[in-house]
Amino acid sequence: MAPLVALPAVEQKVLGDRRRIKEALARELHDQLAQHMTSLLVQTQVFAREQKDRPEVLAELAFVQTSLREMLNNLRQILSDLRDQPGLGKGLVQAIREGLITGFEMRTGVKVTLWVSRAWPASLPPDTSIHIYRIVQEALTNAYKHGAATRAHISLRFASRDLIVITISDNGRGIPWVDEDKPIGMGLLGMRERAAILGGALTIRRRPRGGTTITARLKKEALAWSPKPALFAS
Ligand SMILES: Nc1ncnc2c1ncn2[C@@H]1O[C@H](COP(=O)(O)OP(=O)(O)O)[C@@H](O)[C@H]1O
Ligand SMILES: [Mg+2]
Repeated sequence: MAPLVALPAVEQKVLGDRRRIKEALARELHDQLAQHMTSLLVQTQVFAREQKDRPEVLAELAFVQTSLREMLNNLRQILSDLRDQPGLGKGLVQAIREGLITGFEMRTGVKVTLWVSRAWPASLPPDTSIHIYRIVQEALTNAYKHGAATRAHISLRFASRDLIVITISDNGRGIPWVDEDKPIGMGLLGMRERAAILGGALTIRRRPRGGTTITARLKKEALAWSPKPALFAS
């Protein structure tokens, strides 16, 4: 009997330790980073008021403020993950539309369009939303950074035959290699891991008439049972 009783206790200890470490990390990130970033943002607003007659300064400042807000949003997301709080509060589609696309367009000048299938679920498990959000975010960043794209299109499709298909395509210079099994770079690797965690797979294609398309195919069942991320959802 004794070992059978002992095992859950050990498990409980591990879970307890893990929770304490995550809480401590969240506290540190909040105190050391989030607070300072917030006061920095407030400082830029004070500075903006002082410079209100200089439109060129204000324009540059707006750029800094957008970046800071975006960093803060990302950090808040990480903090809520660490505290096991529910994922993207507003729901994935709204978070992509308002949190991601708006800031990205402003910062980069890339025009982004979003198409969402009518059958798209109103809510998804929190980790699922975060993984999909990060896949889209990384793909957009790559489109701008590596592809020098001027346009990108995101589609969130609740397809038939138990399949969710997410694609991000851009009109940039196209990915310079096509070997599916050898993603180079942490970004593509991370996207592939996230797709895998959601029980799916990622494909990377160079489009025939230029540009890159990233496609994540996820199983509907996998989305329903809220898989636990092996990779920390940041
Ligand atoms: N949308 C894209 N257009 C052109 N090249 C891309 C695109 N996405 C990725 N790449 C290429 O793939 C490489 C790896 O990308 P990634 O894994 O995200 O790493 P990182 O962005 O950190 O360099 C990039 O260095 C780039 O050469
Ligand atoms: Mg990248």
